[in-house]
Amino acid sequence: MSNRMWGGRFASGPAEIMEEINASIGFDKRLAPQDIRGSLAHVAMLGAQGILPTDDVAAIEGGLKAVQAEIESGGFVFKRELEDIHMSVESRLTEIVGPAAGRLHTARSRNDQVATDMKLWVRDTLDNLDAQAAGLQRALAEKALAHAGTVMPGFTHLQSAQPVTFGHHCLAYVEMLARDRGRFRDARARLNECPLGAAALAGTSFPIDRHATAAALGFDRPTANSLDSVADRDFALESLSAASICAIHLSRFAEELVVWTSAQFDFVKLSDGYTTGSSIMPQKRNPDAAELVRAKSGRIVGALMGLLTVMKGLPLAYSKDMQEDKEGTFDALQALSLCLAAMTGMVRDLEPNAEVLARAAGSGYSTATDLADWLVRELGLPFRQAHHVTGRLVGMASAKGVGLEALSLPEMQEAEPQITQAVYAVLGVANSVASRVSFGGTAPANVRAQAEGWLARLAEPAA
Ligand code: ARG
Repeated sequence: MSNRMWGGRFASGPAEIMEEINASIGFDKRLAPQDIRGSLAHVAMLGAQGILPTDDVAAIEGGLKAVQAEIESGGFVFKRELEDIHMSVESRLTEIVGPAAGRLHTARSRNDQVATDMKLWVRDTLDNLDAQAAGLQRALAEKALAHAGTVMPGFTHLQSAQPVTFGHHCLAYVEMLARDRGRFRDARARLNECPLGAAALAGTSFPIDRHATAAALGFDRPTANSLDSVADRDFALESLSAASICAIHLSRFAEELVVWTSAQFDFVKLSDGYTTGSSIMPQKRNPDAAELVRAKSGRIVGALMGLLTVMKGLPLAYSKDMQEDKEGTFDALQALSLCLAAMTGMVRDLEPNAEVLARAAGSGYSTATDLADWLVRELGLPFRQAHHVTGRLVGMASAKGVGLEALSLPEMQEAEPQITQAVYAVLGVANSVASRVSFGGTAPANVRAQAEGWLARLAEPAA
């Protein structure tokens, strides 16, 4: 039997394999709510414009709501021979309301329909991701406030660099997430034009009102070019790109958690709720959630690369290739949502190990820069010379296997005769972080103020 929707000129139905490669219902059924929403806006507009008689409009509206109820209750039977969600809904609508259902597709095509459905889905998802990212920012800012004065080693090249505070480290991710959220919002603002009514590619001869359907679906305006309307998947690419950057931020933090929870570092403790045991090694507390957050960035970036590659050679306007936008987009944005949720839980529960952090903060000659700065400030040495003197002192201490503070004053004076007892004050990590009061610096007072500022901003409804 040929296809009921488009099979007029076909004598027989598709080959089994044709049906299998062609069908998208297995994954686009999740667009059912968006598809029905779009159809309701479309049919209401057709009625208002006098394109469809009011009794047909009423029948179609009633039927669409019945289909929606069946889908929501799980009673709807999805069939592969109906290809996709658009034809599945319309087919069931026909069974419910009879021939009037055939008028719903007036002045529209599956090409503008699917673009509209996808935009609605991506838009809702971006809003949810934004809210979840805000939740993670809040959890991080709370940790930052609680640990504004907890010192830890700051690293460059993963070598001890200078002491920082744990709160400062948390707030670094709050800043990244703020930019991620900015990208979600930018993507949302740019996608918010409605393709519905572009029809197959050229527009339609029916007197439709695209402004009305755009407004009914919460879009800012209709898209301005019918070819672009059905050919554009930038909105998915841009959202995947924003999602990829966010996923990379989460992955970096996840990597830190993996390192920090190892016995060798022992910087933080994750809760039982976010660790797993080993079936053979009883001592283990594995940071599986962090590892999976780190790993899921792979499929998220992969989805972006996949869709970029799908799109790169496509002539205007619609090509069936574009059906391949869905699985990757659904999967990636869903994976990011899960990563944000897992990260928020981990951050809320985690406890920094303050003693270990303080000890580690002081090791590796992390206050060498403070010493050099002291030589500049107190003795008036040029920084390059101060750097050299400090280097000699680090060399002496390291040869003895001790910290800088363990060198005696006479030893210090071998490298620079003008050094006085006062130098020892700057060799402590607490003094070191407290002195970093420059804007954006790690001083506990700065961190406290920044954390409080973030928490106040995040408490505002639109933040
Ligand atoms: N399932 C299709 C997709 O996701 C819907 C659009 C099909 N359009 C067409 N002319 N065959 O892209």
